[in-house]
Amino acid sequence: MSVALRTLDTRTTAPPHEPASTARPESAVSFAGVTKRFRIAGGGPVVALEEVSLEVRPHEFVCLLGPSGCGKSTLLRMVAGLERPCAGQVTVGGVAVSGPHSSRAMVFQDHALFPWLDVARNVAFGLEMNGTPGPEIRRRVAHFIHLTGLGGFERAYPHQLSGGMKQRVGIARVLALAPEVLLMDEPFGALDAFTRMELQGELVSLWQREPFTTLFVTHDVDEAVFLADRVVVMSRRPGRAKAVLSVNLPRPRRRTDPAFAALRTRVLAQFDAAPALEDWSI
Ligand SMILES: Nc1ncnc2c1ncn2[C@@H]1O[C@H](COP(=O)(O)OP(=O)(O)OP(=O)(O)O)[C@@H](O)[C@H]1O
Ligand SMILES: [Mg+2]
Repeated sequence: MSVALRTLDTRTTAPPHEPASTARPESAVSFAGVTKRFRIAGGGPVVALEEVSLEVRPHEFVCLLGPSGCGKSTLLRMVAGLERPCAGQVTVGGVAVSGPHSSRAMVFQDHALFPWLDVARNVAFGLEMNGTPGPEIRRRVAHFIHLTGLGGFERAYPHQLSGGMKQRVGIARVLALAPEVLLMDEPFGALDAFTRMELQGELVSLWQREPFTTLFVTHDVDEAVFLADRVVVMSRRPGRAKAVLSVNLPRPRRRTDPAFAALRTRVLAQFDAAPALEDWSI
């Protein structure tokens, strides 16, 4: 994907306090042999992830697809700096992640807006918290409200919006922070099919205009094939990257395209396949 207009020049580079690593500098996000075990009271350790290795290129759109409990959210939380691997390393921009940072922003399934703030104040919230100057806040809020199709609803409160509009506010709010990496954990999972398809299209065009790299978690094969440059199919727990499929379909993609259907079938076939790592394109 070559379209990477840098409309905002305020992105930070990797935070200076985080230790250097050996990850390839051309990777936006790198997972190197990442293993994660959880200990639950009264039970043995749960191996959530085992030896996951993956390099995500700058401005790539990668979907993580896999069954419930295979560690998809845990992988995102590691990039966000909310969890640490037990073994291996997660790096962003070549620097090991050691905690949360505004260069990596997360969008959740429930948009978690503040009900007492209107749309503009919700979008501005993170910028106000990090001390961005007022004129710059107003510029970014206007820019992302426009880009997410919320123009005219600046003064509306969350209870006055549809589910899709609320999710757009959630997306505008994190994009206003100019993240280098956008982490999306089933962001459209609670929406009806039509709103979901509409937002998938909008997300792709936003990503084409803005320079961020996207890691997007989903259970939905169609959603992954529609959105991604590459789809990472994960195995059941312990989660591993079982197959990585390149989606070389032109955008905007059409779900009725026979090539789309062929790729959907190949992704689905991975859920029955042997646990070998494959990489191919169609
Ligand atoms: N904080 C935690 N403490 C203990 N176990 C955890 C914790 N977080 C995740 N796990 C376990 O790790 C495994 C992976 O969880 P995770 O939430 O990453 O899966 P997931 O692939 O996102 O699942 P889903 O598709 O249902 O959201 C699960 O077995 C879960 O119980
Ligand atoms: Mg999850």
